[in-house]
Amino acid sequence: MLPELGSCYYPEHWPKDQWKSDAEQMVASGLTWVRIGEFAWSRIEPKEGEYNFQWLDHAISILGEAGLNIVMSTPTAAPPRWLLDKWPDMSIVDSQGKTRKFGSRRHYCFSHEGYLQESLRITKMLAERYGKNTYIKAWQLDNEYGCHDTTLSYSKSAAIAFKDWLFAKYKSIDVLNEAWGNVFWSMEYNNFEQIDLPYLTVTNANPSHELDFKRFSSDQVINFNHSQASLMRIYTDKPLIHNYMGRITDFDHYAVGQDLDIAGWDSYPLGFLEDRSNQDEDFKKQFMRFGDPDFQAFHHDLYRTVGKGRWWVMEQQPGPVNWAPFNPEPAAGMVRLWSWEAIAHGAEVVSYFRWRQAPFAQEQMHAGLQRPDGIAAPGLAQATQVDKELKEFKGIQQVQSKVALVFDYESCWAWEIQPQGKDFSYFELVYDYYKALRSLGLSVDILPPTQKDLSDYKVIVMPGLMHIDKALELAIESFKGVLIAGPRTGSKTANMNIPKQLPPIVPGIEGTVASVETLRPNASIAIEAGGKFNCWMENLINYNNIIERCNDGRPAIIGKKNRQYLAGWPDQEALKRILSDVCLAQNVSITQLPDCVRVRDTLKHRFWFNYSETESIVGGIKLPPSGVIWESL
Ligand code: GAL
Repeated sequence: MLPELGSCYYPEHWPKDQWKSDAEQMVASGLTWVRIGEFAWSRIEPKEGEYNFQWLDHAISILGEAGLNIVMSTPTAAPPRWLLDKWPDMSIVDSQGKTRKFGSRRHYCFSHEGYLQESLRITKMLAERYGKNTYIKAWQLDNEYGCHDTTLSYSKSAAIAFKDWLFAKYKSIDVLNEAWGNVFWSMEYNNFEQIDLPYLTVTNANPSHELDFKRFSSDQVINFNHSQASLMRIYTDKPLIHNYMGRITDFDHYAVGQDLDIAGWDSYPLGFLEDRSNQDEDFKKQFMRFGDPDFQAFHHDLYRTVGKGRWWVMEQQPGPVNWAPFNPEPAAGMVRLWSWEAIAHGAEVVSYFRWRQAPFAQEQMHAGLQRPDGIAAPGLAQATQVDKELKEFKGIQQVQSKVALVFDYESCWAWEIQPQGKDFSYFELVYDYYKALRSLGLSVDILPPTQKDLSDYKVIVMPGLMHIDKALELAIESFKGVLIAGPRTGSKTANMNIPKQLPPIVPGIEGTVASVETLRPNASIAIEAGGKFNCWMENLINYNNIIERCNDGRPAIIGKKNRQYLAGWPDQEALKRILSDVCLAQNVSITQLPDCVRVRDTLKHRFWFNYSETESIVGGIKLPPSGVIWESL
């Protein structure tokens, strides 16, 4: 099946007599999918028990009759005001103990049992009514779990549910005290009732306490989604989707994905560059109209795994957004480039947010495919061009990459809790490895920490993975290719303690981390063979072999050719050098790319992307500004 395009549409924002022409224009523009309903609860149920489905029935018929496939959504990301009157304690509470107010969205706490039941009630109403509707071809559950910092909640409901969760996990308070090391600072508990959420403590709470709270909070998202998904399955056999976000890491997306058929994600390249990137000001300026050339791809690869091979871009930036610190216009052609990049990474659908710019409320400054007056905005013609170009293809088939990277949500939480140096970020560490691999022209698979089979890969990178579980340990033991681990890999127990046998606990690596240090931003440690370590450095002893050394004499890489452990956080120069040597030794061919050019290989094509306002020429391939080119393999 060829990938398709779509858009996000809000019939409730526009007069009824506009719906038909909107639908017809979408079809004429090459769009085949339309997502609706995710924030429409106050129009579906204006008062408790008083339902109004007529407008939605009508909108669904109009969109469907025009030939569009509909993604219907459950509206639970935006509970209406009257629900708060009914459940005054359903709101999310932040880590300062402040209750988040009504007046935007995502104001619910995942642990509130009353709200969970309300969400299932409205889901059931929709599922019963539309589960078999032939125009509805897929369902989206809720909208962007965790967006606006809404995974962790310090509410009363969360406090009660957390105690139950801890009891189910540890059964005995002595076991919990031991696991957390509560003898430290006299933190021992006599019973589960005494345990509070880890917030408003005088200084840091116990990291094991915090990690369990993050695990619990992630489980609450998983349960919420699971409840909706199981209910939906009774009424529909259509695929269930959730639209995840960029760089939201506070729940386990792999686990949520187990209950769904397709992973969607919302891709806002320019917003993310301004709002969620640690790159420096020069980089941000260079890419302000293009986006970070690796950020979208990283998430495409991540969500391909979260979706077990099936994934969409549910929302694609079509022009300037409204929510980042600066909101520039994309360079001409970038909407097309981003769409093609998603397709090359395996997206089944790319859907633009939104069809028409809203003239009111919070997002009135957010571009759509159309301006508020219904005139086409620059993104629309690019979407239509992608649709036309797609017709050249018979199909675009994905292949397993030769190189993979392990990405783990728990490690993210662990190192957020205990970064040891203010700049240590697991996401950034992993992302640096990903960036280096991509700059060598490699396509990368992202694997969960539960991966059981590594056999078809040639190179696996596993930086910062706090703890290696049994299944992955076995997979590493029988893995024939090269494993690159460190820094911080295998450095904690599952309870977030230092293991009895000192780290790294990584199969095939002999050595001991005698001590670690973190470095201020203007300090670094040069590596003899080139490049340097920033931010994090380990003193390794008891190794049987040194592969590389630092200028100060300390080991930089220890291990054997096919099992290597890095002592620090390498910069791009070191990473590119180390990874290209490893790839060449494994007969994985690499292409050195400039910062603004990236490639993606599918079964029959190599796609080239130019994230730049000037032409780029690489290996005889001429790439126009913001250009996309595909060559047959
Ligand atoms: C997404 C969200 C949409 C809209 C969009 C604006 O995060 O799912 O509803 O708010 O951002 O960029």
